[in-house]
Amino acid sequence: MNVVILAAGMGKRMQSALPKVLHPVAGKPMLSHVIDTARSLSPHQLCVIYGHGGAAVLDLLSKQTEPVSTALQEPQLGTGHAVMQALPALDEDQPTLILYGDVPLTSAATLRALADAAGNDKLAILTVEQDDPFGLGRIIREEGRIVRIVEQKDATEAERAIKEINSGIMVAPGGKLKQWLGALQNNNAQGEYYLTDIVAMAVADGVPVVSAQPGAQWEVAGVNSKVQLAQLERIHQGNIANRLLEQGVTLLDPARIDVRGELICGRDVTIDVGCVFEGKVELADGVTVGAHSVLVNASIGAGVAIKPFCHIEQAVVGAASIIGPYARLRPGTELGQDVHVGNFVEIKNSQIAAHSKANHLAYVGDATVGSRVNIGAGTITCNYDGVNKFRTVIEDDCFIGSDTQLIAPVTVGKGATLGAGTTLAKDAPAGKLTVSRARQVTVEGWTRPVKIKK
Ligand code: UD1
Ligand code: CA
Repeated sequence: MNVVILAAGMGKRMQSALPKVLHPVAGKPMLSHVIDTARSLSPHQLCVIYGHGGAAVLDLLSKQTEPVSTALQEPQLGTGHAVMQALPALDEDQPTLILYGDVPLTSAATLRALADAAGNDKLAILTVEQDDPFGLGRIIREEGRIVRIVEQKDATEAERAIKEINSGIMVAPGGKLKQWLGALQNNNAQGEYYLTDIVAMAVADGVPVVSAQPGAQWEVAGVNSKVQLAQLERIHQGNIANRLLEQGVTLLDPARIDVRGELICGRDVTIDVGCVFEGKVELADGVTVGAHSVLVNASIGAGVAIKPFCHIEQAVVGAASIIGPYARLRPGTELGQDVHVGNFVEIKNSQIAAHSKANHLAYVGDATVGSRVNIGAGTITCNYDGVNKFRTVIEDDCFIGSDTQLIAPVTVGKGATLGAGTTLAKDAPAGKLTVSRARQVTVEGWTRPVKIKK
């Protein structure tokens, strides 16, 4: 099979400099959704027709793992004209599936059913009954058979009353498609070369025209405005939430979760409201995610409790750890088992081994921290001299007193204690108390200035 994706339209109603097909649904450009679905059908040829915002569209296509062929449509003279541009890239012996870059959520199963209905020698159209068919092409049937499609602007009153619409998605036999496209005329209300006119041509040629229906209406919903984009996003998120519920995940409110990527959950996972998951996130058995947390490309071990308002990105959290509230785990954070990271603690590019704790107000960056270490409130690793980054090493069983600065590169030996307020510029020996602090004095005879009462 060949697949052609139409993506040349400008999408004026989006009111945006970004080409319409690059607007994201669930964090992924609509065109990428369509390409990924098309890929899952293993097509022989895949061709994207681009036009408006060409450079940005080509940039996206250049990042595909498998190459995609492209054809420029300039100017844009209609859907039929668009498909014509793809002809040199197509295999004439194969049927051709036509998809739209702004219809992102069609399922592979629906497309397979359409392709099956078409076989090698029929024209198959994906149609749906719509309560409000305004603006769409209507399917005209005679004695049950499809005979043509008429566009809204060209339709009579009686035709406009028809509720069965053309989704735009169709499968056409290869050689015939070329022939029909060559014969298209633009003598219609919009002066465009309508792809839909090939239906009447097929009927005239004695080629059977059949239809298939999607599993759900939203599968053929196109996006022309931010309103429609937002509606489709909600539908898609609702579907994802339902899948999670069916797998046994507890969602405190399925209407208040956003998954923009792949969320893999073990058993007995609970997710509170307002959480966002991006990229690939794995939550092992028994994880709880508190309200309004954002997790990006993260792996969370079994039994971890993430309290509300955490931000976790490119981080691995060991089993039974407790994170937050208000914790930030930045890229390169690797926490062992039973690590506690409390409020207003930021960790970056650091390994923290089992049973260690940083419970309040700390910055741990470029550090290697052993097991059973206690990092006191206000501890800061000074990892950056304005040009270079340096590492801090804190070995097992250390106790870092509150308000300590560790000026990297520096090592705190096993079992060492740093007194509160220490500015550590040299390594601290194992097993000993190290403290750098001005001696405390009490000034005798000092009196506080007194305000004269008015
Ligand atoms: C088209 C169908 C209509 C169907 C509707 C479904 C035709 C003539 N009409 O309507 O029957 O109900 O889709 O949404 O086919 N595009 C190009 N180049 C062009 C014109 C369009 O690439 O020259 C692309 C657009 O970017 C878009 C898609 O084709 O992705 C559909 O175009 P649009 O103008 O939205 O659809 P209509 O032509 O109004
Ligand atoms: Ca149009």
